[in-house]
Amino acid sequence: MGIHINPSILSADFADLAGELSRISSADMAHVDVMDNHFVPNLTFGPPVVERIRDVSPIPLDAHLMIEDPDTWAPVYAEIGCESVTFHAEAAAAPVRLARELRRLGARASIAVRPGTPIEPLIDLLPEFDQVLVMTVEPGFGGQKFLDVCLPKIRRMRNAISEAGLDVMLQVDGGVSASTIDRAVDAGANVLVAGSAVYGADDADAAIASLRTAAER
Ligand code: DX5
Ligand code: ZN
Repeated sequence: MGIHINPSILSADFADLAGELSRISSADMAHVDVMDNHFVPNLTFGPPVVERIRDVSPIPLDAHLMIEDPDTWAPVYAEIGCESVTFHAEAAAAPVRLARELRRLGARASIAVRPGTPIEPLIDLLPEFDQVLVMTVEPGFGGQKFLDVCLPKIRRMRNAISEAGLDVMLQVDGGVSASTIDRAVDAGANVLVAGSAVYGADDADAAIASLRTAAER
């Protein structure tokens, strides 16, 4: 399973999203953080903005929904063409029904856990998902420090995926940089989200290349 680098546009200039997306054309997918000021104490954008991001993005969209009531809202992001839709386990009322709905709509179904949420209850549900996201910061803001305490959980999830013989991607989001990415990859992550490490650099494509190099070290 190859390494995927998905820059988070949370750290991009929101006044020039088209320009900012054109800076990351060497990445695998654009990570789009949707926040509702309820599930997390921050607010970004919703479906109309994401739909326009999709129109101008050179690469597919990886929506990360940090919102309450994903059972209602996540399918909307699949309908507007997000290739992958991640909702939080803590917020979903019926995660299996929702995953099936996302797949029916043609999206990859992905489920996320906050740092304090155990992954064990998800293990039996893995066949319903294309990806699991283990957060390595408390969701809500870019630029936070990578939480090493989450590494054993990433490792346990990778082992569970391997034992089940499934082709489920394991995404890590929060504090990923050229100096932390190797720890996430060693623990079993294969999809790495990086916001400030990419958009904080003058040359975003060069930052993506350094992340790939550091991940493969
Ligand atoms: C945080 C978001 C992340 C964020 C990561 O809640 O889900 O995607 O953009 O930013 P960095 O890479 O700066 O930690
Ligand atoms: Zn995110």
